[in-house]
Amino acid sequence: MLNAHHDRIRLPQLQARITDAATAAALIHDGMTVGMSGFTRSGEAKEVPLALAARAQKERIKITLMTGASLGNDVDKILTEAGALARRMPFQADPVLRAAINRGEVMYIDHHLSETVELLRTKQIAPIDVAIIEAVAITETGAIIPTTSVGNSASYAILADQVIVEINLSQALELEGLHDVFIPKHRPSREPVPLVAVDQRIGSTAIQIDPDKIAAIVFTHKLDSASPIAQPDEDTAAIARHLIAFFEEEVNAGRLTKQLLPLQAGIGSIANAVMMGFVDSPFEKLTMYSEVLQDCAFDLFDAGKLDFASASSITLSEEKGKDVFSRFAAYKDRLVLRPQEVSNHPEVIRRLGIIAINAALEVDIYGNVNSTHVQGTHMMNGIGGSGDFARNAYLSIFATKSLAKGGDVSRIVPMVTHVDHTEHDVDIIVTEVGLADLRGLAPRERAQVIVNHCVAEPYRSMLKAYIADANQRGGQTPHVLERAFEWHTRYRVHGSMKKIEE
Ligand code: COA
Repeated sequence: MLNAHHDRIRLPQLQARITDAATAAALIHDGMTVGMSGFTRSGEAKEVPLALAARAQKERIKITLMTGASLGNDVDKILTEAGALARRMPFQADPVLRAAINRGEVMYIDHHLSETVELLRTKQIAPIDVAIIEAVAITETGAIIPTTSVGNSASYAILADQVIVEINLSQALELEGLHDVFIPKHRPSREPVPLVAVDQRIGSTAIQIDPDKIAAIVFTHKLDSASPIAQPDEDTAAIARHLIAFFEEEVNAGRLTKQLLPLQAGIGSIANAVMMGFVDSPFEKLTMYSEVLQDCAFDLFDAGKLDFASASSITLSEEKGKDVFSRFAAYKDRLVLRPQEVSNHPEVIRRLGIIAINAALEVDIYGNVNSTHVQGTHMMNGIGGSGDFARNAYLSIFATKSLAKGGDVSRIVPMVTHVDHTEHDVDIIVTEVGLADLRGLAPRERAQVIVNHCVAEPYRSMLKAYIADANQRGGQTPHVLERAFEWHTRYRVHGSMKKIEE
């Protein structure tokens, strides 16, 4: 007989819905839209999607899969290999799925992360048939308590016809109380999101739905995938130093205090290095209003630098995860996890005055940023929350190494091959070479500052020559259009953007 786990399923009538993953997966049919928990490899459903993939090996079943963001435990890889994905949104970061997207086999819709549930709520995209939500427990009223991410789980569960809950017995009940679920009302009668401070709670600690919609409950013991530790290197350390020096100047100029403003940092090695740079900095009583909390957030708590952190998920390395979750009470009252439409809400980001630090694939001489498309065509991950933050931040910072592919690719180019963030949304560009402060500069001035501060030779001289030729042609934003993508073409044909010796 299946264990009832009364502390995990507190509404007695729901005990009868406990089943196995294959039976739960049978609720999903070919052509359905499935909304699943999971954000930056945290809190994804771990059993039912794999049972679905097993079915897809034997019968035709292709779904539209919507999540919060990227998934752990190879869920995207396994579903892709089983041929179970027709469409995928709003974000992914899996190499196997990425390859299928770039072969044109999976239709990928790359959303601003704050926007997906708005589109669903207003029926502008296909409705959710089944939601699969990982939970710590189900309350006495049938409300779902999420685990390590909130993402889009609340709205998916509310909007779906049927809900499958995966109760993760490896996640401690101590997580209860961490979440703050707030759902904006319908427009046009919507009121302002009442969040005026990073540490404020405006919602409920669980996702309240009609318990009759819970069609199946499955147990899992699988943990979130450990986040790979992106070790700082010389370049990321230099980027961090430039940024810390910049913030010191802002404090000296009286534009910021030592507390700075709430920080948002993307995921990966640059964000990690920058945030670690705060440990030995003069800044104090810092706060984060971000999408995701990585190891560095907990290092900053331990160093006494960080006062409070708000995000939509927690994703940690194996070692850090063991440490943090073994003494979670030490952090719990300084943390809150929110739905991604709140963590990334344009209104809240603008109101709180966020300092946004995101990474770029390439940047052009005027400060337009490509975050998503390698060589303008091939999807990397997706825009994620970078656009939500960049457009609305107090300061929008983009950080990148100046080179890729052993120096054969310059990440500062004449013209980006795809634009995710226009020059209007970019205040600061920082590379290991230096920092370009673009505030208040016109395009011709921005080009000089970016090239002089962020680019090393030989690309610096090449860009200077390009800018000189472009300026001859004239314009507010001068270009030599027939040469704007010459560097990318040279890389495609010859394997390097460097000039070929005559
Ligand atoms: N042309 C060709 N290849 C490039 C390139 C370019 N301009 N820039 C980077 N690459 C390659 C790198 O060589 C590397 O390939 P490799 O793994 O084979 O060596 C790969 O692309 C990733 O580059 P890397 O420098 O490691 O990227 P990153 O970890 O700094 O990530 C983004 C940069 C833009 C991909 C990442 O930040 C992202 O997905 N951003 C969008 C989502 C987002 O910002 N979310 C917000 C907050 S979570």
